[in-house]
Amino acid sequence: MLVAAGRGERLGGDRPKAFAPLAGLPLLAEPLRRLDEEPLVDAIVVVCPPEWEEQSILVAEDLGASKVSSCVPGGESRSDSVRIGLAEVPEDAAVVLVHDAARPLLPEGVVQRLLDALLQGYDGAVPGLPVVDTMKRVVGDVVTETLPRAELVAVQTPQAFVAPVLRRALGATGEQTDCAAFVEAAGGRVTIVAGDERLLKVTGPADLARAAALLAAERGE
Ligand code: CTP
Ligand code: MG
Repeated sequence: MLVAAGRGERLGGDRPKAFAPLAGLPLLAEPLRRLDEEPLVDAIVVVCPPEWEEQSILVAEDLGASKVSSCVPGGESRSDSVRIGLAEVPEDAAVVLVHDAARPLLPEGVVQRLLDALLQGYDGAVPGLPVVDTMKRVVGDVVTETLPRAELVAVQTPQAFVAPVLRRALGATGEQTDCAAFVEAAGGRVTIVAGDERLLKVTGPADLARAAALLAAERGE
C-alpha cells in the first residue's frame, strides 16, 4: 500500500504533496514505479488525495505500473488513510507493506530485509537508522529527561506486517504516527531492520531538493 493522501501543508504549494514536482514528474510517480518494479510486491493499493483519484490513476498508467489493484481517496489522518487502504487489500493477503509516497527513493534490498524479518516470526518489521543527536524530552520550555540514545532508532517506511495482525491492531479509530505503533500497542512483536539514508521523507521544500539531488546522482546526471 502506498499512502499518498496527505495535504503536504509543511511543503506548501498549490497541490497535494503527492503531486509536487520531482524531476519533472509528480512525487507519487517515483515511489510507485519502485514498488511496481519490486519483484516481492504482488499488488499495490494507492491511497490518493481526495479529488485526485483520476490524476493518480493517470500517473500509474503513464508509468505502466501494472500492479496497481486499486486507487482510493484517503482520510483526514494518515491512520485513517491506512485503514481505508487496508479495506482494499484482499482478505487472503499474508503480508502488507505500508509505504509513504513522501519517501520517493526506495533502495533495493529494503523490502527483502523486511520480509526476511517476518519469516523469522515477527509480526512487523520497520527500517530504522541510529539516532545521531542527543534526544531530550521537553515539557513546556523545560527539559525533563535526556533519553538513552543507544536505545533509540529513527524509523522509516516501508513497514511490513503480517496482514491479519495489522488489521486487528489498527481497529476502527485512533491515531499513531506510524503503523508499527498500533501493532506495538496491541502487544505485537515489531523488529527493526537496517534503514537507508535514501529513504528520506519529503516534508519541507529543502527535502524535495535533497530527493531531487539523490535521484540525479543515482541516474548519473
Ligand atoms: N498521508 C495520508 N493521509 C493523510 C495524511 C498523510 O495518506 N491524511 C500520507 C502522506 O501522503 C505521506 C505520508 O502519509 O505520504 C506521511 O505523511 P506526511 O509526511 O506528514 O505528509 P502530509 O501529511 O501530506 O504532510 P503535512 O503533514 O506537512 O501536511
Ligand atoms: Mg502529515
